[in-house]
Amino acid sequence: MSTLFPNYSRWSLQIDSGSGSKVVDDAGKSYLDFTSGIGVCNLGHVHPAVTAAVEKQLNKVWHTSNLFQSALQEETASLLVGPTHLKKVFFCNSGAEANEAAIKLARKFTGKSKIITFEQSFHGRTYGAMAATGQEKIKKGFGPMLEDFHSIPFNDSNALAKHADPQTAAVMLEVVQGEGGVIPGSEAFLQKVQQLCKKNSILLIIDEVQTGIGRTGKPFAFQHYGLEPDIVTAAKGLGNGFPVGAVIGTEEVSEAFGPGSHGTTFGGNPLAMAAAKAVLKEVFSPSFLDEVIEKGQLLREELKKELHPYEDILEIRGLGLMAGIECRYKIAPLIQELQNDGLLALPAGEYVLRLLPPLNMSKEEVAEGVKKISRAVKKQSILV
Ligand SMILES: Cc1ncc(COP(=O)(O)O)c(C=O)c1O
Repeated sequence: MSTLFPNYSRWSLQIDSGSGSKVVDDAGKSYLDFTSGIGVCNLGHVHPAVTAAVEKQLNKVWHTSNLFQSALQEETASLLVGPTHLKKVFFCNSGAEANEAAIKLARKFTGKSKIITFEQSFHGRTYGAMAATGQEKIKKGFGPMLEDFHSIPFNDSNALAKHADPQTAAVMLEVVQGEGGVIPGSEAFLQKVQQLCKKNSILLIIDEVQTGIGRTGKPFAFQHYGLEPDIVTAAKGLGNGFPVGAVIGTEEVSEAFGPGSHGTTFGGNPLAMAAAKAVLKEVFSPSFLDEVIEKGQLLREELKKELHPYEDILEIRGLGLMAGIECRYKIAPLIQELQNDGLLALPAGEYVLRLLPPLNMSKEEVAEGVKKISRAVKKQSILV
């Protein structure tokens, strides 16, 4: 009998240790990890540079509060904005918290409250982030939502043109919808979003909690399309497992968060900053990112080659090392079969198998994972 709230449906296995792209369960069985802890351990498990940075900080000081100057926050913020057009950072502790702050910032900066979001989107579980999320199942049972969020169809420029008016404070989107089923925004749609935002003085908020920090082969996914968001949120991969989130904004919008307007006790904590700084030094190197693009292409090409004989595989899609395999059948048994064969993979809804391997996984490990997926799909095709 568990003493924990029953809000997660957990798999039966328990991970005891991890190193690079491999984890070992408490029975000693080894798994190739295509989850990275839902897109968190982008540098693999117990990465030496991140571990060393956190260990060093552990022996220096753990927590001071945001009443003090922080060179570590400044350095980490500089690395985070370095490859972008953005200038300012607010550190917090999670993706939902970053989105919550982004929503507040957009409302305060514009003086307006209407925010357009998209069906199938996911922005987190706090009250504002939940209201922004375009999935009824996430909101069910929680009573009236925070008003003035409008979820419209994703990749539908006409729907957006109808809703995006000068009364709108912000459009908020994921460049590739992650939890919603690994659904990439189309180039034409994303350009239309940017154009309508500019035309109507609407802020563009891009939620890069899952797609950011190198996951798609650019520092942030919006950079594949030359977009110029006013506000970007990040978390997950930023600390490689150490909880940390960030709101990244233009200088202009950042000024709406004057002293006393917003805050958090733990945000920018020295341990989290030490982890994030070490992560950014590795992940934002152009040669590292080029390899992510190469491995992402390899992953999708190999999957297409191996899985094309199976008519229950409807689509293989994604960007960089974020891949989705849409199936005609429910994928829970497939995930179980993969675990039996020593591969960890994720669901994105009931019908999409989601792959978020560590970004520094070797090409051989990518190929090994694809072989395991191919074996499991073959077994599944006989069963269904
Ligand atoms: C795109 C996106 N935004 C926000 C969140 C929420 O992040 P957190 O769970 O850190 O609050 C997630 C988590 O899956 C996410 O994928």
